[in-house]
Amino acid sequence: MSGLRVAIVGTGFMGAVHARSAAVNGARLVGVIGSTPLKGRAAAQRFGAERGFDSLEEALRHGVDVVHVCTPNATHARFARTALAAGVPVVCEKPLATDMGTAAELASLAADRDLATAVPFVYRYYASVREARARLARPGHRAPWLLHGSYLQDWLASPEATDWRVDAADGGATRAFGDIGVHWCDLAEFVTGQRITRIDARFARAFATRPGPDGAARPVATEDGAVVLLETDAGAVGSLVVSQASAGYKNALTFSFDGPDSSYAFRQEQPESLWIGGRDAHEVLVRDPGRGGAPVGRSAALPAGHPQGYYECFADFVADAHAAVRGEAVDGMPDFDAGLRAACIAEAVVASARDGGWVEVPTAADGHRVPAPVAVQ
Ligand SMILES: NC(=O)c1ccc[n+]([C@@H]2O[C@H](COP(=O)([O-])OP(=O)(O)OC[C@H]3O[C@@H](n4cnc5c(N)ncnc54)[C@H](O)[C@@H]3O)[C@@H](O)[C@H]2O)c1
Repeated sequence: MSGLRVAIVGTGFMGAVHARSAAVNGARLVGVIGSTPLKGRAAAQRFGAERGFDSLEEALRHGVDVVHVCTPNATHARFARTALAAGVPVVCEKPLATDMGTAAELASLAADRDLATAVPFVYRYYASVREARARLARPGHRAPWLLHGSYLQDWLASPEATDWRVDAADGGATRAFGDIGVHWCDLAEFVTGQRITRIDARFARAFATRPGPDGAARPVATEDGAVVLLETDAGAVGSLVVSQASAGYKNALTFSFDGPDSSYAFRQEQPESLWIGGRDAHEVLVRDPGRGGAPVGRSAALPAGHPQGYYECFADFVADAHAAVRGEAVDGMPDFDAGLRAACIAEAVVASARDGGWVEVPTAADGHRVPAPVAVQ
């Protein structure tokens, strides 16, 4: 049980998910900060927190052990910086920042102060994902050479649909890729252990306008979808299709990582099983903590046939994040370096979509200083 004093910034979808996950882990929900004091107090009641705070600064003066940042993308850096500067660990929603330089600055700040950090690349917490990763890491397993998949949604598949994410000032220069494509890339690197080195991306829009905050139609500057070709440091090639305007697809994150020995396929909407393709026969492994050889994952709390879903994964992620805050070592928890990595990949995707052609993904190998993306001749 965590026992940590938690403050949550942000009162929407993810604020509620973080609050629930913190409570499940025995944390003390000390308070909530909203976009106005009134919203913070109302959400505190809704989330079962002790009180609303008027600002993050007030919460930090009150005393908290960890801050969870669950606000629109462009505000993440300000809240994360404030908490870290006060010596408080941070769980910050993705994207860590809307540009690579700021993400690097935050990762450096946390590292310099030796503060625990986390970024919810939550799909790492499915048992099937962990199983694929463990199998690919076995000695002698030949590496996948073809990485492919997609992440498709339809919640923006109407010209009337809109959100703060549509406006680059709130969401960042990339919307569909920055919002969901980064999850896929995180999984590709986490599961295969390979690093994406080069990107060739194209952006597309389903609608030229969407309603602005006043309801009037406004030109849309961010992408509804992206097609991304990629290469990795192990010589693999890959392709990813991302969309938030594909009718009928709700949260369809799928990958297949294919090699000469085996191919590993995962579907987020049917996460209990992992398909393993073989040359002579296929296997479908079903999560079962009670049976040796079946995927178990980070948490063995639920018996087979009681599906592990997004909420369970999120609670396991927060358990790991809070363990890190207490100074414990945790395997496979996405931290600010993972957030920085995603920001580097997003920067290359944006540069390629803007300028055309292949772009090198900047690396954070040189401390946390990251060079600008370089177009490949
Ligand atoms: N890891 C995941 O699986 C996952 C899933 C969905 C969203 N997210 C991320 O979570 C973040 C929040 O997304 P959401 O879907 O909850 O959005 P949302 O619109 O549902 O909620 C955002 C909340 O932030 C509040 N807010 C806005 N400005 C604020 C400010 N200055 N101070 C305090 N509160 C403020 C809004 O009032 C709103 O309640 C985004 O960065 C998004 O990328 C992550």
